[in-house]
Amino acid sequence: MCGIVGYVGKNDCSEVLVSALSRLEYRGYDSAGIAVFENGNINVIKAEGRLKNLENKMENENFPKGSAGIGHTRWATHGKPSDINSHPHIGGEYVTLVHNGIIENYRELKEKLEAQGREFYSETDTEVVAKLLDFNYEGDPIKAIEKTLAEVTGSFALGILFKDIPNVIYAVRRGSPLIVGVKDEEGFIASDVPAIIKYTKDYYLLEHDEIAKIAEGSITFTDLKGNPIDKELKTADWDMDAAEKGGYEHYMLKEINEQPDAVRKTVAPRVFHGMPSLEECSITLENLKDIKQVFIVACGTAMHAGMVGKYAIEKLARVPVNVDIASEFRYRSPLVGEGDLVIIISQSGETADSLEALRVSKALGAKVMGVVNAKGSSIARESDMLVYTHAGPEIAVASTKAYMVQIAVMYMLSFELAFAKGRIDEGECKRLTAELMAMPERIAEIIKSTDEISHEAAKCLIDAESLLYIGRGFDYALSMEGSLKLKEISYIHSECYAAGELKHGTISLITDGMPVIAVATQSDLFDKTISNIKEVKARGAKVLLICGDGFEVGEDVADMVIRVPMYEEMLMPMAAIVPLQLVAYYSSVLRGNDVDKPRNLAKSVTVE
Ligand code: AGP
Repeated sequence: MCGIVGYVGKNDCSEVLVSALSRLEYRGYDSAGIAVFENGNINVIKAEGRLKNLENKMENENFPKGSAGIGHTRWATHGKPSDINSHPHIGGEYVTLVHNGIIENYRELKEKLEAQGREFYSETDTEVVAKLLDFNYEGDPIKAIEKTLAEVTGSFALGILFKDIPNVIYAVRRGSPLIVGVKDEEGFIASDVPAIIKYTKDYYLLEHDEIAKIAEGSITFTDLKGNPIDKELKTADWDMDAAEKGGYEHYMLKEINEQPDAVRKTVAPRVFHGMPSLEECSITLENLKDIKQVFIVACGTAMHAGMVGKYAIEKLARVPVNVDIASEFRYRSPLVGEGDLVIIISQSGETADSLEALRVSKALGAKVMGVVNAKGSSIARESDMLVYTHAGPEIAVASTKAYMVQIAVMYMLSFELAFAKGRIDEGECKRLTAELMAMPERIAEIIKSTDEISHEAAKCLIDAESLLYIGRGFDYALSMEGSLKLKEISYIHSECYAAGELKHGTISLITDGMPVIAVATQSDLFDKTISNIKEVKARGAKVLLICGDGFEVGEDVADMVIRVPMYEEMLMPMAAIVPLQLVAYYSSVLRGNDVDKPRNLAKSVTVE
């Protein structure tokens, strides 16, 4: 994910910027660049690939040391990794900036600026905000920032240089994190503490819509109207390892908390005038219209995301969807051929069985769409159509944010497919897309509101030898992922069953005190799930129910209830997965396991 740094002070600015960027490498990136003031000019240099490429280029071009500047590592979202698309971006005569996050309405703004005669050199949303800021700038940075922020939507952080205000950095954030570091007369900006911890542990946390002005020996904060703000200086008490985890105890918890941002980055760039648009991934309404059936092929968590996709696509687009485990699909002579769409979902893009399933499908004449997180991976390269998920690097073996963005893509695809097939009209398509666009804020709320109770729930589970997850419809698809999450990191045996299937055998496993985790978020299935819960409860099960907050639940139904707010019901897996992830996480922590590196598991399974 993109990283921002900035430095004002007596030291060699270029060197500080590159060193700070190197501390953000763990976030993942595909290009880097810096911009520094020197003798009233702003010099910009950028290079695709590793930081080393940038350093070599700086050396070859004798790039100035600079007295103040900004730097950036880019994880491509809008436009491919390239020198041109890398940051910093130049907005015009005055503005040069770096950006983390997403400008959701960049296409509309670009059209407007083009109509005003501004020309664009890159494919990025960043260049749009740079051009807009430059357009709005009349000598007062705060006014220009205020005006610009009134026009843009999305979540972002910006580090800005104005050519006529040398050796000063302006920074502003809305959504995406940004800190301002301080040490004596030096000032820093960074997306994350690790970038500057080598230089200082003292920093300010920039809040939503606050502007920082960093000059040598002075750091001031204002709101968008220019009113001064007093901020509390914080001191990081982390070592480097903790710093890279963003202060979280484990990568898994950090990644759970990164989910809102990951969804935003995955969805927002693909919404145009309120409609989902996967055209940049070579997916058009025209080629979706003729699809006869869909196969979703993947492994583990990615396969569970495919299950959610199946329910969404069949419900909305009325196209039959088969979900296959890749290791089965590749050897079972699948009935796949021309006119079929095979979707391969993979975080790593290197899973051996998924990659082979892709090759089998292509050989049989099907079109393959990859839904992949790792840029440039084998599955990404070999797919006919490619939708990148923008979760950033996922380090914990237990997948959380990658799953979340995979299901976000499944929803987008189901909306677009349903629209292409004439199953929903434009109004409905826009309504569903708006609901999806609203999910990042909602997910953030749910992470906060369910953290403590999920911890409590985990305490009741950790001595269990075995437990069951049950649900119906979307809740069944979701519970499969909840069950996998728990067993892979807590080592407690668990199985997931469609709630209606219990009576056909599995219910004989229920003994006194056995935990059962039930998920009920779908109103049409709620009463049926409650009946199934009562059946296990009557046989001694201890029930943890995760359900929508609008449902009435009798006192005798569950031993513990975790409520999540009700939104568009189709999208409820994005809400209800959060407590399931947290329950698994805390169970692992409480059992003293290695949460991020569970035994016997690898992050990327490149062998069969
Ligand atoms: C889940 O937490 C696991 N990491 C695992 O099931 C994973 O989803 C599976 O191995 C598929 O990996 P991929 O997405 O990289 O293809």
